[in-house]
Amino acid sequence: MIFQNEFINWFRSSSPYIHAHRNKTFVVCFGGEAVLAEDFYHHVHDFALLDSLGVRLVLVHGIRPQIDLRLAKLGVEPNYHHHLRVTDDTALQCAKEAAGLVRVEIEALLSMGLANSPMAGAKIKVASGNFVIAKPLGVIDGVDYGHTGEVRRIDSAAIHQLLDQDSVVLMSPVGYSPSGEVFNLSAEQVATAVAIALKAEKLIFLTEGKCISPETGETVAQMTAEEAHTFLLQHNNSIPDTSRLPLLAAIQACQAGVLRTHLVCRKQSGVLLLELFTRDGVGTLVSSTPFEELRTAALNDIGGILELIRPLEQQGILAKRAREKIETEIADYIVLERDGLIIACMALHANRQCRVGVIACLAVHPNYRGSARGERMLNFAYRKAWQMELQRLLVLSTRTVQWFIERGFAPTALDNLPEALKTLYNPERNSKLLAKDIDLSRHHDKNS
Ligand SMILES: CC(C)(COP(=O)(O)OP(=O)(O)OC[C@H]1O[C@@H](n2cnc3c(N)ncnc32)[C@H](O)[C@@H]1OP(=O)(O)O)[C@@H](O)C(=O)NCCC(=O)NCCS
Repeated sequence: MIFQNEFINWFRSSSPYIHAHRNKTFVVCFGGEAVLAEDFYHHVHDFALLDSLGVRLVLVHGIRPQIDLRLAKLGVEPNYHHHLRVTDDTALQCAKEAAGLVRVEIEALLSMGLANSPMAGAKIKVASGNFVIAKPLGVIDGVDYGHTGEVRRIDSAAIHQLLDQDSVVLMSPVGYSPSGEVFNLSAEQVATAVAIALKAEKLIFLTEGKCISPETGETVAQMTAEEAHTFLLQHNNSIPDTSRLPLLAAIQACQAGVLRTHLVCRKQSGVLLLELFTRDGVGTLVSSTPFEELRTAALNDIGGILELIRPLEQQGILAKRAREKIETEIADYIVLERDGLIIACMALHANRQCRVGVIACLAVHPNYRGSARGERMLNFAYRKAWQMELQRLLVLSTRTVQWFIERGFAPTALDNLPEALKTLYNPERNSKLLAKDIDLSRHHDKNS
């Protein structure tokens, strides 16, 4: 029974993401190390699951260890400069062989029908092609990189066409010049260029390690592109390449309009699903805008607002509100959105004539309480009140009186509720009325 309830809760909590990810383009990049790992087929199952949920999926694989293995067999030392391979004729031959082999292996895994797996019976179409037009990297610091190249252009129209036909697009880190030359590229660079060219919703790196903060020893859960830049400057020497390269790619992608880049450690089982279908994820999210956004509500936020407040109404903490009432008053509501979900809301019903505003429907999702989000909502209300030149804020509360008192509100007589706002008072609830005056001369409230 407990298991059943857990299952129902889990399924319900992941369903908003299933809906949100459908028809979105995700570019997933993983190194050749992931392909060599014994549990790689688990990731393939998850790719298949994403495909079946309607995600437009582009996979970009690496071939670094596969090239090194081939070179080792030939008794040749790999040659790197500034973390990039110098590709001579022998290394290029190894790169071509490795790219071909890895691509065929992934195609085979995606073709398996995946019996005895969560994706039994799924039929996945995989497409590859000459989508990357490349040019030579040339000579840097006096070092000739040979056949190492960089992306010149992505044939995004061809990729979109295949995605439109419900194919998963599989790409290797090789590119071609218009004169028929082949170049060895970095998988991270290809994935980033593809995500930018396709205007992908997400760029996801399955990395070899977690992105750990040297200060806290914990995984960094989220950063803006700017914070990622500062993080790299501050910790340049202590961040391993496994995080540094994807972070650099994430910054580039964000600056070029890809809203979200995720870094998830491929060694954790089911990491893609945990990152994409749970509220907090498990990896590091680099986004161009702050992860949480406080903004005025719109009509399509009503579902999220109701989900948040219905349990509180049932407990008698908030007064009951009909959906229609929220719809008509939606301009009064503000919401705190986190990765597409509403995690806090509040209404400010203003009466400009009386220069009074009433705060109502303040709620923070239980998982996110105790981190000053309530306080942030209140500050937003002060700012709005200041902009509307209101003199006083009121709130009716049954069980949160103390919280407001600690934030400068004081109990006041019910008569102080202006006539025009009396409809907000329900005598059965026996709420207390609290008030706080807005100091219109205090400029800092505007920016608090
Ligand atoms: C009240 C509420 C909005 C606060 O949100 P929040 O993001 O946790 O707020 P903050 O982080 O800014 O403040 C947390 C502090 O308030 C305290 N607090 C929370 N609820 C409280 C309450 N009902 N009475 C007194 N203090 C309360 C917490 O203990 C914490 O104090 P601490 O840090 O000293 O432990 C949130 O608890 C909530 O949604 N409650 C249910 C709905 C509700 O009561 N709404 C108000 C209707 S009038």
